[in-house]
Amino acid sequence: MRSCLLWRAVSAACLLLASGAAAYAADAPDATHHTSFASPSRFGEEDGEAIYRNVCAGCHQPDAKGAVGAGAYPALAGNAKLEAAGYPVTLVLHGHKAMPPLGGFLSDQQVADVVNYVRSHFGNSYADPVDEATVKSAR
Ligand code: HEC
Repeated sequence: MRSCLLWRAVSAACLLLASGAAAYAADAPDATHHTSFASPSRFGEEDGEAIYRNVCAGCHQPDAKGAVGAGAYPALAGNAKLEAAGYPVTLVLHGHKAMPPLGGFLSDQQVADVVNYVRSHFGNSYADPVDEATVKSAR
């Protein structure tokens, strides 16, 4: 919000934004539990499904079937490459080509949760979940 203060001096719209954010923050149970992009370094979602919906679905689509348009977003649905859990973990942490590295935004647990979610939904049923330690060692 600090950068917003300057802007606020010249823009009533910013004031509205700022007060909206303040009201939102007051609702949040604590600073680490945002449900939006409000936190600069971490997504606040707490389970794999929410992380998928808010972080991945914009590119891979809500049904995980991918999309081709301005870019090519591979389907995660029914994707045999997810069998080796290390592959999606590495992709999420470090990115690849047009897939952005998300490791700086997600905790080890969040990476594990979202990888476990995609590996057990959308027609994927890989039974060996990834844990936090696996993600940590892949960073
Ligand atoms: C900004 C768009 C974008 C976002 C957000 C995004 N991805 Fe991707 N993802 C891509 C693109 C593009 C590729 C293909 C990269 C390549 O060409 O190697 C990809 C590839 C992948 C692959 C490899 C698929 C394959 O068949 O090789 C996995 C797994 C994956 N993404 C998982 C995720 C997960 C899980 C999330 C959310 C935590 C996520 N992605 C968020 C764009 C995105």
